[in-house]
Parts: sequence; C-alpha cells; structure tokens
Amino acid sequence: PLVSMKEMLEQGKAKGYAVGQFNINNLEYIQAILKAAEEEKSPVILGVSEGAGRYMGGFKVVVTMVKALMEEYKTTVPVAIHLDHGSSFEKCAEAIHAGFTSVMIDASHGPLEENIAVTSKVVELAHIHGVSVEAELGTVGGQEDDVIAEGVIYADPKECLKLVNETGIDCLAPALGSVHGPYKGEPNLGFAEMEEISKTIELPLVLHGGTGIPTKDIQRSISYGTAKVNVNTENQIAQAQAVRKVLAEQPDQYDPRKYLGPGTEAIKQTVIGKMREFGSSNQA
Ligand code: G3H
Ligand code: ZN
Repeated sequence: PLVSMKEMLEQGKAKGYAVGQFNINNLEYIQAILKAAEEEKSPVILGVSEGAGRYMGGFKVVVTMVKALMEEYKTTVPVAIHLDHGSSFEKCAEAIHAGFTSVMIDASHGPLEENIAVTSKVVELAHIHGVSVEAELGTVGGQEDDVIAEGVIYADPKECLKLVNETGIDCLAPALGSVHGPYKGEPNLGFAEMEEISKTIELPLVLHGGTGIPTKDIQRSISYGTAKVNVNTENQIAQAQAVRKVLAEQPDQYDPRKYLGPGTEAIKQTVIGKMREFGSSNQA
C-alpha cells in the first residue's frame, strides 16, 4: 500500500535497519524499484526531486504512474512517494496535493529561524493530509539537480534539537559530511555528532548521499538511529553502464525495449543489493 514514511522509519529505527530511498527518473525506475521491493519483502521510499518531477511531466503524472504500477504488480509492501529536497512551502504543497505521501523541506541553506518557520508551515499542512515530513540541517556536499552546495557544513546537534522541538517533523537529515554523487576518496562522516544527535533526538535520522558509503559506515549510522538512506547516483551509474554495453555491442540496435530493458534490470539488482545491505529485506 501507499503510505507515509512515519511508521516504516519508526519501525526501522526500533528494529535496527534502514529503509532505502531510491530516486526515480522515469517509468523504468518505478518498475525496477517496486519489483525489487516486492521480491525482497522490503518497505521502500520512491524519491522524487523537483527536477525529476518536471522531467516526468509533473507530480500528478508521477503519482499516477506509481499507483498504476502498484495495482498492476499487486504490491503488498509499504511504499512512500517522497518529495526529495523540496525547495519551498509551495513545492511541498503541490506535491502533497498531487498525492505524495511524504515530503522533504530543505531549508538548510538559510538561517535556522527561517528553516524552522518554513518547516513548521510544511508540517502543519502535511500532517492534515497524513503526509510525513523530513527536514535538513547543515549542507550535503556535491550537486543534485537544482541543489548545489558550496561547501560542506556539518549540522550542529543543538540546532537539530531546536528544529525538531519547534517544528514537529517526522524525521531529520543532519548533514554530517555526506555528498551527493560519487565521493572523492572515503567519506568522512561526523559520527561524533551523529551519536550526540541520536542521544537527544528520538526521531529516525536520514543519511543523504548514500552512493559510495562503505557498509561499515552504513551499519554505524544505523546504530546511531539512522533509519533512512538515500541512494540515487548508484542506480543511475548501473543503468547507464548496462545501456551503454548494449549500444556498444549492438551498434544497429534501436529498439528501446532492447537497450532500456537491461538498464532497468541493472537498477533492480542494485536496489536489491542495497535493501540487503540496509537490513530492510524481509521486514515488510
Ligand atoms: O537525496 C538524494 C540523495 O541524497 C542521493 O545521493 O546520489 O549520492 O546517492 P546519491
Ligand atoms: Zn539528498
């Protein structure tokens, strides 16, 4: 069923696993991720950035595609459609009214008071609709669609507590050195801060920039209350490699089913691997 992230993340935190957010870009991503989740009996979050939403034809198109495929596949596992890095109250409202079951409001670039003000407004609307809300503090490095970070600022544990207490969000993404896209060298996650945050905040934590984070760091993050890990780039790389291979080996191939199909399968296998790594397999 289509649900918010609230219960699935609370359960993950209580039982010691993380639910994957896998970003979608088109129909094939939705097919691959829903099939992986059902096969693995895993809860799953479909992440939709504003750019990907535009690319697919708008938030309503996204919701319609997801619902139709879930019906077709007779999906039994919990699925959330989540706005990734929502840039404003208006964008979050648009997603909520289109049928998204979860939104992230990313006001991490501005002053704390502004972040709290806009996040509270989003929570107020979202909770009327049974939609969960994720907020962010600090900056995730690298670039994802419209979200470009100048430098990586680690989230401050005291500010995290204030944001949580004053907004009523359902989960928190404290940026602690993670990066969107591939890492240059090993990631250097702020585990001291993460541990401190997990001691004062009851809510499930979210780890962005899941691509390229070693398993030991994923496990350590989960032990400090991380219940959601976002993965985007890794699926894109797997898909592109598979498509490139077919086109290189068969230069005369032009049937999209023949070159996109292997790309879709590559996404599915990548997602299955992540679900096992995060411990969410067989939890739905
Ligand atoms: O919000 C989405 C993510 O944080 C994805 O990061 O592309 O590095 O996996 P990634
Ligand atoms: Zn992110």
